[in-house]
Amino acid sequence: MLKLHSHFLLLSLLLFTSLALPWSPNQQFKHAKNYEGSSDLVDVQYHMGPVLASPINLYIIWYGHWNPTHQSTIRDFLYSISYPSSFPSVADWWRTVRLYTDQTGSNITGNIVLSEEFYDSAYSHGRYLSRLAIQSVIKTAVTSYQRALPLNPRNGLYLVLTSSDVQVQDFCRAVCGFHYFTFPTIVGVTVPYAWVGYSGTQCPGMCAYPFAWPNYSGRPPPGTSGGASNIMGTPNGDVGADGMISVIAHELAEVTSNPLVNAWYAGDDPTAPTEIADLCVGVYGSGAGGGYVGKVYTDSWGKGYNVNGVRGRRFLVQWVWNPLKRRCFGPNAMD
Ligand SMILES: *[C@@H]1O[C@H](CO)[C@@H](O)[C@H](O)[C@H]1NC(C)=O
Ligand SMILES: *[C@@H]1O[C@H](CO)[C@@H](O)[C@H](O)[C@H]1NC(C)=O
Repeated sequence: MLKLHSHFLLLSLLLFTSLALPWSPNQQFKHAKNYEGSSDLVDVQYHMGPVLASPINLYIIWYGHWNPTHQSTIRDFLYSISYPSSFPSVADWWRTVRLYTDQTGSNITGNIVLSEEFYDSAYSHGRYLSRLAIQSVIKTAVTSYQRALPLNPRNGLYLVLTSSDVQVQDFCRAVCGFHYFTFPTIVGVTVPYAWVGYSGTQCPGMCAYPFAWPNYSGRPPPGTSGGASNIMGTPNGDVGADGMISVIAHELAEVTSNPLVNAWYAGDDPTAPTEIADLCVGVYGSGAGGGYVGKVYTDSWGKGYNVNGVRGRRFLVQWVWNPLKRRCFGPNAMD
């Protein structure tokens, strides 16, 4: 789950530096480097549950009113997970996720097929959704009279995306997205799902970092060269959609490695697991930490990205924890 306090932590580190409290920028960098490379502090463990090892049929539920341009950006990102593009690609980024296995030694799949989509443009459960109501949205999509999605407990994964005018419990206050599994009493079977909200209007500074940043910090994230007009540009032209891509990436990495919340996570508390993407929030490239996003690419228009996708697309996705290197990693790493 992408919680917000991690960003707050990064930002408070940032404020620390700017106030020139005991930490020198040098120490700050060393600390960040340390975190990126640390194997002592982080203990991601396998708790014997399943991972998503079979080829996945992904179903999108577009809840509310969606801009077709944003939809095609998101679809292209999802296609890019399984289709090769030039290095470093989204598929290369997914290789880190594939390093996680289950008890049988089966790796997480590299095959995620966007199979069907459902449009809930009538806001079937209203414009305010509790966390649990997301499961009712899935129920509606799989039981609709028209163009219902299949209910696929064998290898289905459901992605609920809510539009800019939909409020979701804790959205923008505590989370940008989460994943869980459905209860048979609501949906009929147990299937893994993830939810991500469009943050472009509600809270870009919270959930579309680093394309926007929270006002209270008083300044943009370091590495984006300061000044409102110099903040990192979005690779696909929309703060909300491009910000969602990284949150979707985060949730997909976690739902596949911890679909029933009993597989891969760090920490002793299964009700608040620190999952493989939670460990790397705000880390997009080498040297990241303390509010600095790390070494990423910037094109001549100032658009930031770190991976390539299908149809010449570029995306900025956060790194995930590599269990072999025991640090956050992505294909754009310099070492
Ligand atoms: C599967 O996971 C193991 C353990 O992390 C790793 O050594 C191997 O390269 C992975 N295989 C694939 C295809 O990613
Ligand atoms: C942040 O600041 C900008 C410019 O001052 C303003 O337009 C915007 O509404 C502020 N956002 C929030 C969430 O306060």
